Amino acid sequence: MEIKWLGHSAFEIITDKNLKILIDPFISNNPSSSVAVEDVSPDYVLLTHGHSDHFGDTLEIADRTGSTTIAIHEIALFVSKQGFDTISMNIGGSIVVDDIKITMLDARHSADIDFMEDVVPGGYACSFLIETEGGSKIFHAGDTGLFGDMETIIGGLYKPDIALIPIGGKFTMGPFEGALATKWISPKKVIPMHYNTFPIIEQDTFVFSNFVKQLDSNIEVIILNPGETYSD
Ligand code: NI
Ligand code: MN
Repeated sequence: MEIKWLGHSAFEIITDKNLKILIDPFISNNPSSSVAVEDVSPDYVLLTHGHSDHFGDTLEIADRTGSTTIAIHEIALFVSKQGFDTISMNIGGSIVVDDIKITMLDARHSADIDFMEDVVPGGYACSFLIETEGGSKIFHAGDTGLFGDMETIIGGLYKPDIALIPIGGKFTMGPFEGALATKWISPKKVIPMHYNTFPIIEQDTFVFSNFVKQLDSNIEVIILNPGETYSD
């Protein structure tokens, strides 16, 4: 299983059976993107919410590749109205696609589709737990602030192996909150995201790593550069 960071909150997960799952494909307008939008060919696109820096190139990718978009009901409806395949789900629910189990979980963030001329309601922002056919549990936190259920539900019940956690501040948690979220979720490994895309969310990953080390030294912090891959 491989997890490739494309920059910002965009990740490509390639499972052992070579299934490609793209999360929050903000590529063509992403100054930190490591790929061209023509070069991605996902089977599934997962969206945590409808903000432009997450929805990104979803429609172009669906049009070119025939990928299926998986999102909360309101966003799935929006994508399906443009004529593309979707799977609609909602917070607390799970689906299984091609032996991959996907559970939609909470995030604490706003959620409108913000790039249309008129703002379209986008339900709620969410996070995802992705359990590959090999049994790896990957948690993508989406955009979020800290909330207590990270410890009781996400960490306590779902027990991810690897967590992808926003640390950029201003629109999401910063390095300290991200480190505390990591401690509560208690994965074996954490990869920070949603930082250094723009000057306004610039962060030093060393600060985040140090906070994690102080809070729980058993958790390994993996720092990727856009374009780099973590393999398990
Ligand atoms: Ni957002
Ligand atoms: Mn964002």
